[in-house]
Amino acid sequence: MQAELEEIRKDAREKLKEAKDTADIERVRQKFLGRKGVLARQMKMLGTLAPDEKRAAGKLANELKEKISAQLSVRLEELREVKSGGKDGAPFDVTLPGKKQPVGKLHPITQTIILIEKIFGELGFRSVRGPEIETEFYNFEALNTPGDHPARDEQDSFYIDKGILLRTQTSPVQIRVMEREKPPVRIVASGKCFRRDATDASHSPMFHQVEGLLVDEEVTFGDLKGVLGVFLERMFGADVKTRFRPDFFPFTEPSADVSISCIICGGKGCSSCGGSGWIEILGAGMVDPEVFKKVNYDPEKYVGFAFGMGVERIAMLKYGINDIRLFFENDMRFLSQF
Ligand code: DAH
Repeated sequence: MQAELEEIRKDAREKLKEAKDTADIERVRQKFLGRKGVLARQMKMLGTLAPDEKRAAGKLANELKEKISAQLSVRLEELREVKSGGKDGAPFDVTLPGKKQPVGKLHPITQTIILIEKIFGELGFRSVRGPEIETEFYNFEALNTPGDHPARDEQDSFYIDKGILLRTQTSPVQIRVMEREKPPVRIVASGKCFRRDATDASHSPMFHQVEGLLVDEEVTFGDLKGVLGVFLERMFGADVKTRFRPDFFPFTEPSADVSISCIICGGKGCSSCGGSGWIEILGAGMVDPEVFKKVNYDPEKYVGFAFGMGVERIAMLKYGINDIRLFFENDMRFLSQF
């Protein structure tokens, strides 16, 4: 019997070596350790032996059973390692699910700017950019806002040096474009603006604006209303109504504050619109002839309109966001929703 057990041991080792996968290993286990397996048969035959022999052979058979069982586990482990890439760089299983790489996306403010630029692009406005650090000349003086003008107080500013500041509005890009180009001009300029405002749910010292400028001959206030009307309908839906009220800006005359009918209550009046049914959304007007003089455009020949809007405000209305700070906290739970 000893010789037979030795044969079984060799055979089991061979078969295990040949095993290529877990199914092979299971077959080996059945063959040697199964209830009707090779070793079980040997155990049965123990009964036919003399007591001394029986004890010795029984011990050997039990040892062999444990040994084969241990070898099975080792081989199983080896096969698993090969499958998952292996200690030794063996091929890995290409059918295993991959590790997902998180894919980034554009910030909701960037998305909103792109949408605004797209709508104006379809109306023939070219997108341009200007510097975030400006001179007082471009940010104020050329926009008909001299040093003692009260409108400067409203735009508490970050000065970097004498006469140099972080722009408080995108309007200076109007001047830069008109200095470079002759009419007709049709541009939108987007980007960051800065004001020394305390942060709260609707104020941030850094925010974004989109500026628009159109200059040509025979431009009317009706053209301004038409362009902004189309823009606001495309942005907020065909049902939205627009309202123009007189306002003041140093660089436009006449100037208007433009509102849309409240998109929450549809104009009936709710807490979002302060009960008025209207939400102020942008400033606009006909370019003041004084501005044309600053850039050597003939104010007798050319007419134009301009407008400016806060991107955060538009994004907040469009997506129903109630706190401007959410845009700048970089919380992925917020940002990944857009
Ligand atoms: N720059 C103005 C602001 O920041 C917004 C503005 C109003 C821009 C009227 C314009 C305009 O071009 O015509 O408050």
